[in-house]
Amino acid sequence: MCGIVGAVAQRNITPILVEGLKRLEYRGYDSCGVALHVDGKLERSRSTARVAELEKQVAEAHLEGFTGIAHTRWATHGAPASHNAHPHFSRGRIALVHNGIIENHDELREELRAAGYEFESQTDTEVIAHLVDHLYTGDLFETVQLATKQLVGAFAIAVFSRDEPHRVVGARRGSPLIVGIGNGENFLASDALALAGTTNQIVYLEEGDVVDLQMQRIWIIDANGKQVEREVKTVQAHTAAVELGPYRHYMQKEIFEQPRAIADTLEGIESITPDIFGDKAYGIFKKIDSVLILACGTSYYSGMTAKYWLEAVAGVRTDVEIASEYRYRDSVPNPNALVVTISQSGETADTLAALRHAQSQGMQHTLTICNAATSAMVRECALAYITRAGVEVGVASTKAFSTQLAALFLLTLTLAQVKGRLSDEKEAAFLKEMRHLPAAITAVLALEPQIIAWAEAFARKENALFLGRGLHYPIALEGALKLKEISYIHAEAYPAGELKHGPLALVTEEMPVVTVAPADSMIDKLKSNMQEVRARGGELYVFADGDSRITTSEGVHVIRMPEHYGLLSPILHVVPLQLLAYHTALARGTDVDKPRNLAKSVTVE
Ligand code: F6R
Repeated sequence: MCGIVGAVAQRNITPILVEGLKRLEYRGYDSCGVALHVDGKLERSRSTARVAELEKQVAEAHLEGFTGIAHTRWATHGAPASHNAHPHFSRGRIALVHNGIIENHDELREELRAAGYEFESQTDTEVIAHLVDHLYTGDLFETVQLATKQLVGAFAIAVFSRDEPHRVVGARRGSPLIVGIGNGENFLASDALALAGTTNQIVYLEEGDVVDLQMQRIWIIDANGKQVEREVKTVQAHTAAVELGPYRHYMQKEIFEQPRAIADTLEGIESITPDIFGDKAYGIFKKIDSVLILACGTSYYSGMTAKYWLEAVAGVRTDVEIASEYRYRDSVPNPNALVVTISQSGETADTLAALRHAQSQGMQHTLTICNAATSAMVRECALAYITRAGVEVGVASTKAFSTQLAALFLLTLTLAQVKGRLSDEKEAAFLKEMRHLPAAITAVLALEPQIIAWAEAFARKENALFLGRGLHYPIALEGALKLKEISYIHAEAYPAGELKHGPLALVTEEMPVVTVAPADSMIDKLKSNMQEVRARGGELYVFADGDSRITTSEGVHVIRMPEHYGLLSPILHVVPLQLLAYHTALARGTDVDKPRNLAKSVTVE
């Protein structure tokens, strides 16, 4: 998704802006640009190629300056084209970059056209640039406060003026924006990662904040127009985490990091105690009578898996909802429910809006399972469990998913304990299994050569079906999502029992059917469903384990997982599906880490 970097300094800031954009590249973008204050004028360079190309352009043009802004754009309004790339200018006086979506852009465009402004792009962002110019009082900070009052929608913006050479103004509502504090220089960015290596002193702006960035000071006005001090936090530099190391792609690196990520996520957990979710957890867990999980995409599938655990182990009724649906639905609020948001980034617009919707309905018992400790999701929930997957760069989520599952299993055990359903013996046995997970995943990763052989066959297909039952139905959904998003093969997942109610019509010799087949209580039912597929000529690719007694035969290919893992089996079974998607995409030659049309952190609706 879009990224912002801005700076005011007493040195040439071009390298800082470009480096910041490089660090934000993983979020997905289709064009990029930089604008600087140069000798009393606004200068810019924009590109629809990679940031590396922009860097060359900037060097060739000797574009240097002390004040500037930069942007990676993920198109929403207007095609990915140079004239739509940010920064946008207004009458040679205002330069502006924007993340988010302005909903009233059509009305504002008409008003500004009537006032004589001409538009070069199809973007909603250019509207804000002209609006700031139109309202310009000679004081940019004051003007941005006026302009943002007229905007409906979500935004984070950074803007500077030709007439105020040592000032950048930022504002946020609905999209993240942070300030980086330097020594006699200050920075703005949509993500602290953009400033890694430049400063680790970070201020997280809050909803409705407008910030005045100058070399020696920052000045923040909150949503009520009051001057406020915001805490300066020291954040860890993520520099090493974004190095690719010996891997070909970030996705591959992140799949192989899962043993470490799970170990880190479980580090320090000696026993089950509510405190691991926050000081107030015991009181909240005691009160709640059900769980409502809100999330999107892969995080939603981890929530679906957790439903099986929470109901079976903790005996707590659980509903799981897609955040973008829940936020607009007339639902029946339950003030005694524990609202759990699950998010890798902690900034997903739909999930945040769903959380706020639940809160506005009187549901105050909130918990987030999140990979970003300083995100809005963590700040806005009463309780949190931070997964320690580390920075996830590949657009297709992998280690974030498995660490979410580990955290959700801890939540299951904790609620089971609070509700009196977890004996000491069971607690000890589950914790032992969890501690063994890193080793168990390492053994699964060793299956890679067999999966590569399957991927060659998959790469020639245009459709695939994924089947699972019970706990492994969400894993089948996640496997299908991974395959479609990075290989562009159309993939669908079904609970295997549903096959005969419709999707069986799709099965022919051309249809590979991936089956997640652990030796659990559903295995015999699943085998019958597999027979239904074979009878129609469908080719089965089965991930079996333990004693599932499925062997390779004509039209049935089997990879046996090293061990059966009981209730925690979904955490192991997702790994070969990630590898299958990765190697299939590799064989098809797609851009694995930056699949077309997708962004890493979906901060717009
Ligand atoms: C798929 C993927 C997405 C995200 C979804 C939610 O591989 O990564 O489906 O899971 O956009 O993102 P978060 O977890 O950041 O809220």
